[in-house]
Amino acid sequence: MLVCHCNRVTFDDLRTALADEPTDVEGVRHRLGIGAGCGGCRDYANALVEHFSQASVQGHRADKSAAA
Ligand code: FES
Repeated sequence: MLVCHCNRVTFDDLRTALADEPTDVEGVRHRLGIGAGCGGCRDYANALVEHFSQASVQGHRADKSAAA
């Protein structure tokens, strides 16, 4: 499923990028080019970024706790 049609960014692209870099939301958004075209995806993409980044950070913290 596409999140950004202009830059062909999929739901999985976004989820994977945020899982790899949960603390660099702006970097992920810039690297993938989300919202850099027509801008029509920005509201939807922002909601997904918010959702995935919170989930990724929580998972990242849980991983660190398990490793300690
Ligand atoms: S659909 Fe994402 S910038 Fe146009």
